[in-house]
Amino acid sequence: MPPTLTTVLPEQADVVGTMVYESFREIAERHNFAPGFATPQFAQLVVRLLAQTEGNESYLLVEDGRPLACSFGDERDEVVGIGPVAVAVGQQGRGLGRQVMEALVEHAERDGFRSLRLLQAAYNVQSFALYHRLGFDVRSMLALVKGRPPADEQPVDDVRDYTLADLDACDALHRDVMGYGRRNDLEIFATFAPPVVVERDGQVAGYLTRFLGGETFVMHGIARDERALRDLIIGTGGASEGDLVVQIPCGQAETLRWAMASGFRLMELGSYMVRGDYQQPLGAWIPSGFY
Ligand SMILES: CC(C)(COP(=O)(O)OP(=O)(O)OC[C@H]1O[C@@H](n2cnc3c(N)ncnc32)[C@H](O)[C@@H]1OP(=O)(O)O)[C@@H](O)C(=O)NCCC(=O)NCCS
Repeated sequence: MPPTLTTVLPEQADVVGTMVYESFREIAERHNFAPGFATPQFAQLVVRLLAQTEGNESYLLVEDGRPLACSFGDERDEVVGIGPVAVAVGQQGRGLGRQVMEALVEHAERDGFRSLRLLQAAYNVQSFALYHRLGFDVRSMLALVKGRPPADEQPVDDVRDYTLADLDACDALHRDVMGYGRRNDLEIFATFAPPVVVERDGQVAGYLTRFLGGETFVMHGIARDERALRDLIIGTGGASEGDLVVQIPCGQAETLRWAMASGFRLMELGSYMVRGDYQQPLGAWIPSGFY
């Protein structure tokens, strides 16, 4: 019997999360990189959050009750963010990754989405080949950096915590810079830890979301320009303990040079891949781990 295609239920988070953890660890270790998820528990947490959040679609191939492959598509906002995508160790290279990705793409297109996006590690030729064959194009190179901004560096403009009163301004700014809205994603990350906002001349000039999980994972953010983006990274450092993990688009060369000169370590290079509509950002941006 061929594997059955189903969805991930929250109560399957532990078993699916373990499969995701092992799959990401095996390929990272094969290339001498740190694993995509530091622990099985962290992968399980991510899978649980995705499985229980309405609008996050999941695709799971199961055989004899055992998960073989999965993918997740975030359909809560205006473009679809993808990940994690994983095929169990020992099951790779026989079309299962393509199957869960095709299911995701078909569902998103049926639901009317015109843009699907994901992040991919540059060392990972299998995932690059899969996504490229499915019509995803590289739109940006990403530098995954880890560290902290210098303790004595102050933001140029005013940096403060986000409040609910900022939602409309942040949503409008995201639309201006990226060409689409990301309101639901901002709202959910604001429940995990307050995003940081930068104001210039009394107007919101950017925001950055974060997720605390041992280290501080900088999630998505946008800014009018790179100066405001650096203010946000400095502000996020001030608001969080431990290292920040940030994906900086390499086209934002001034910010990347500043981060590396400030002591951030370059951990990995990656690509930002898009299938369908794409508008070049009209400002500065940071993707989350998903898009
Ligand atoms: C990446 C991954 C999801 C791909 O799934 P998979 O089941 O192994 O891949 P598939 O068998 O579906 O093959 C994908 C396609 O890539 C092609 N491909 C793979 N390696 C290739 C290479 N080096 N050059 C050219 N094409 C290649 C395959 O031929 C296949 O093409 P086709 O479907 O048009 O025939 C899977 O290998 C995996 O889980 N890896 C570890 C975790 C991971 O990397 N997750 C993704 C993170 S972004």
